[in-house]
Amino acid sequence: MKKILVIGAAGQIGSELVPYLRKIYGDNNVVATYNYTPLPLELVEGGPSEKIDATQGVALNDIVKKHSIDTIFNLVAVLSAKGEANPQMSWKINMDTTFNCFEVMKEIKGAVFMPSSIGAFGPTTPPDHTPQDTLMRPTTIYGISKVAAELLGDYYYLKYGVDARGLRYPGIISNVTLPGGGTTDYAVEIYYEAIKKKSYTCNLSAGTFLDMMYMPDALRSAVELMEADPAKLVHRNCFNVTSMSFDPEMIAAAIREHMPEFRLEYNIDPIKQAIANSWPNSMDDSAARQEWGWKHEYDLKTMTIDMLEKVSAKLKVSDTR
Ligand code: SER
Repeated sequence: MKKILVIGAAGQIGSELVPYLRKIYGDNNVVATYNYTPLPLELVEGGPSEKIDATQGVALNDIVKKHSIDTIFNLVAVLSAKGEANPQMSWKINMDTTFNCFEVMKEIKGAVFMPSSIGAFGPTTPPDHTPQDTLMRPTTIYGISKVAAELLGDYYYLKYGVDARGLRYPGIISNVTLPGGGTTDYAVEIYYEAIKKKSYTCNLSAGTFLDMMYMPDALRSAVELMEADPAKLVHRNCFNVTSMSFDPEMIAAAIREHMPEFRLEYNIDPIKQAIANSWPNSMDDSAARQEWGWKHEYDLKTMTIDMLEKVSAKLKVSDTR
């Protein structure tokens, strides 16, 4: 990776991936792009940036040529719950961007990183220790677009030599930019509400187990996969990766270790609950561990300590503004 384009740089992952990549590859070698949501000032000042609608192939091609891009991180996605509110729009944004990324990289046989998701699995997938290679019949438009993107990645690799690699991310927990419209968002919101109100009303039920990962592990896993020796990759696109699996009661208990008075209540969102019920309880990520050495660093306990500290500091800063 010498010249990198990050599409969707203003989002939850992009806003942290851009500075992470700039530290590794040099500020001028990472171009941050955005469309509707403006970039945080830090990203604008920290290196090159462009406004672009990546569903438009010609516009994407122009930016790739202008900056001599050889690697794209495509982080554009309408997440699971939001996608169900407008499946047509979700499909168009998710798939047009994905297709254009592969198309523009085929000429130069460049590389594309595409996050897939636990959402690529469905109700007929084995829910416990979900294998790397298994039944994938998702029931959300988000999941269907993720499976299609995984298959397109394989197709462009086999047919055109595009170095398409990807990870099936679990819910990502972070403290810089909030996620939006996802089923796993509760696991981020719970920390903010714990600090603001010492209580949280959860929209998924007790006993809903889902895989999760803290942002530092998510960033490192993306770079480690893209830097992995291709000769060792059997799967390439897309790997199960996870750091932990918990239900709302477990994350509440982890918060209570530091805030004994924290209260958890429930008000179930039937759409999100149905989506969560169709996803794995816990994935088996041994293929990633074997093929390119994936190893998570944060578990629920260490992530909770860091989240409470960072979110407290962040909310105190914004209080005094
Ligand atoms: N975090 C995503 C969602 O909940 C899953 O990949 O939609």
